[in-house]
Amino acid sequence: MPMRFTRRQLGTVGASALGAAAASAPSGPRPGDGADDEREVSRAFPAGFLWGTATAAYQIEGAVSEDGRGPSIWDTFTHTPGKIRNNDNGDVADDHYHRYRDDVRLMKGLAATAYRFSISWSRIFPQGTGAPNPKGLDFYNRLLDNLLASGIAPFPTLYHWDLPQALQDRGGWETRDTAKAFADYAGYVAEKLSDRARYFFTLNECATFVELGYRTGVLAPGLKLPPGRLNQVRHHALLAHGLAVQAIRARSRAGTQIGLAENISVCVPVIEAPEHIAAAELATRELNAPYVTAIMEGRYRESFLAAAGADAPKVAAEDMNAISTPVDFVGINVYLPGSYVSASDAAPGFVSVPFPAKYPTMNSSWLKIAPEALYWGPRNVAKVWNASDIYITENGCSATDVPADDGIVYDTDRIMFLRNYLTQLQRATSEGVPVRGYFHWSLMDNFEWAEGFGTRFGLLYVDYATQQRTAKLSASFYREVAARNRLV
Ligand code: NOJ
Repeated sequence: MPMRFTRRQLGTVGASALGAAAASAPSGPRPGDGADDEREVSRAFPAGFLWGTATAAYQIEGAVSEDGRGPSIWDTFTHTPGKIRNNDNGDVADDHYHRYRDDVRLMKGLAATAYRFSISWSRIFPQGTGAPNPKGLDFYNRLLDNLLASGIAPFPTLYHWDLPQALQDRGGWETRDTAKAFADYAGYVAEKLSDRARYFFTLNECATFVELGYRTGVLAPGLKLPPGRLNQVRHHALLAHGLAVQAIRARSRAGTQIGLAENISVCVPVIEAPEHIAAAELATRELNAPYVTAIMEGRYRESFLAAAGADAPKVAAEDMNAISTPVDFVGINVYLPGSYVSASDAAPGFVSVPFPAKYPTMNSSWLKIAPEALYWGPRNVAKVWNASDIYITENGCSATDVPADDGIVYDTDRIMFLRNYLTQLQRATSEGVPVRGYFHWSLMDNFEWAEGFGTRFGLLYVDYATQQRTAKLSASFYREVAARNRLV
């Protein structure tokens, strides 16, 4: 049963603030005068809601040359001068490969009940295909055992951007063979780990690793492909997802749940009126056309194909069936909305509203503060594609985070971010949107891709010189919410 508070139980600070506002109100019952004391305010999440954190292999593990791991495109990219801020790399990162036991203990201290992490493909298959490397798998066996002993449910992601370099040398995501190799690897891992991991994610954020890795070149492998080749990469990423769903289902224990973790373009209606809400739903399908829309609907939208023209992806006979193999859940990474949307009489039926230049932004320049994305993101997925199980697979805030003289990191900016985003998520679950869990990005500060170690996303502060982890103030906030399963 969710706990419920009356206004009186909310305490004197809230009551007096409400009282001051009410003093200038023209009429109606005044908070604090007893008239609304019995009105209940529930801020609880559904029973069984999972609270977790998320990480990714290359961002935290380090140990890049240990126990037979093969190089990935991220090793190559980070060791190419000028690609990463400060020429940082993930050679050591958070040294999680050696410190995973402590990190699991710290997760438990956050009252976390779930953990999303990624598996390094080139630890398992150093050349991408061929003979597996037992020592690589052993690391994840140990991690899983530790998590389960701590009462934390493992949610492995099979691809978080670290393609084995050997596959890149053979054409990478430009070839169909990579999609097939991914399915073989995914099936193998699921066969070995599904006795303990019940949930698997295929690919993390196709839209990011494809657009930034193959169009703008900001992420590995740093390519700037022309439109036709780019569309083929997009298509092969979707194919890899679909073939992997099939391979995991064929080779895992009964009851294994499979889904994706995509940073969908979240479309927020500028005004919550029916015509703008409908426009945001339409925009959700249109703006996600090359990725999640194709997965959920089994076809590319006409508008996408028309815009691509002769550069449209080449689709083999069974591809769309494979791509749309039903998933058990949809994971969405939610940071900022793709767009604020308003209705329009002109095609395509909506207008994307631009962000003003000075829109409030966190430390990473792309991370604008828009808490309502955490309501509209899952709500649109549930409404547009009838998804019955949704996970927030990432949500988090970048900050500068410097320990004060007393050693504490007073990250009230992250607490502000969390409080506001989680308020919107709670609004969604209280309206019946089927969100089953929330994974905060990230457990601890880590290697933030092209931004190197220059920005921090963790609930735990990492001193990279000593590898000491220190819980930030936001970790206390998160623990309270997770432990009580409600906003506090
Ligand atoms: C999405 C990515 O999945 C993750 O790797 C990254 O660190 C966070 N967003 C923050 O940028």
